[in-house]
Amino acid sequence: MTDLSHPMTVAGTAPATAPAVAPPLWLLAELTYRCPLHCAFCYNPLDYTSHNRELSTEQWVGVLREARALGAAQLGFSGGEPLMRDDLEVLVAEAHTLGFYTNLITSGVGLTDQRLGALKAAGLDHIQLSFQDSTQALNDFLSSTRTFDLKQRVATAIKQHGFPMVLNCVLHRYNLPHVDKIIDMALAMGAEYLELANTQYYGWARQNQAQLMPTREQLEEAEAVVERYRRTHGDRCQIFFVVPDYFERRPKRCMNGWGAVFLGVAPDGAALPCHAARGLPGLVLPNVRDMSLREIWQESDAFSRFRGLDWMKEPCRSCSEKEHDLGGCRCQAFLLTGDAANADPVCDKSPAHEAVVKVVNAARRAASGEQAREQPILFRNDANSRQLAAAHAGGEPCGRSHTEG
Ligand code: FES
Repeated sequence: MTDLSHPMTVAGTAPATAPAVAPPLWLLAELTYRCPLHCAFCYNPLDYTSHNRELSTEQWVGVLREARALGAAQLGFSGGEPLMRDDLEVLVAEAHTLGFYTNLITSGVGLTDQRLGALKAAGLDHIQLSFQDSTQALNDFLSSTRTFDLKQRVATAIKQHGFPMVLNCVLHRYNLPHVDKIIDMALAMGAEYLELANTQYYGWARQNQAQLMPTREQLEEAEAVVERYRRTHGDRCQIFFVVPDYFERRPKRCMNGWGAVFLGVAPDGAALPCHAARGLPGLVLPNVRDMSLREIWQESDAFSRFRGLDWMKEPCRSCSEKEHDLGGCRCQAFLLTGDAANADPVCDKSPAHEAVVKVVNAARRAASGEQAREQPILFRNDANSRQLAAAHAGGEPCGRSHTEG
């Protein structure tokens, strides 16, 4: 396994004169890990309760200023639930003054009429509201809360305040059969965009993979439904369908390249080259409390580690498609092979591709009743997070490891 804890020293992988690094375009400010929902597919780290020392308002303002000076233009306020921070409006106002295009990524819980007005006044540009399903029963089950009716009211209020709205729904085997109803719901709510994002298996979703993984047939049927709606309603609502890469033969160009456009900052100030980077053991994440964002982006080992093509091993190194997919996803490579520098096993040229096939086949057998689903859903909550963090501190991997895939 590649040791991620030391800067690159392998001859030929770290050029003596580093080429100029293009600026980040997108800053994701994960303001807090606190969240009133307990979603089974949350991408936050399993041990999020171990990283709860949140940046202050002043520190976040500093991050926004530095990121804008670096060149970032788009800003997502996320979490957890960003509305748990009562300085959200202050941060939005600062971002607006700096010239960011701002997006609030929210469950809707806490988005009162008063806060909507304040966020509008602060200059917020866009709101992304999550639903778990088109039915109250499944929405509430998957988030382990009673929030469906509230989200409906919040969607109406968002439109009344004149915000453009993206409705976001994470897809998996439970709600893929409801895709038509989810689209109908988005149309009825007046959403300009609908993001149907098939589950990516990191964080809590990886923990619940056996429960959430759909069959190929479910996906194909849902995609056909989406195509039909695009033809008939595409002028009213733009529908994005984010394909799950487990069913592909080539990997996704994850994050559009490591350290290429995306810069995340976690609630405790850790800087993230991707949403799931915290799960890569040995990768030392720089912290905005200790380093400038410019140093972090341009010089830190964490952000340089998989930037470009020089880090690649075979079969990626000699692959004619490497510039297209950039070797796929580092986190998926780690989760399924134990080495983040391996080819993403979604690629059928990867020697570990069988690990992906195994997961897909297990989902098919489970759907046909041939095989029982291994374990109940583990919901994201503080008690479960503490338990996983304690197990991790005791030497167990934090969550299911590649050997369990
Ligand atoms: Fe980390 Fe893909 S999620 S590189």
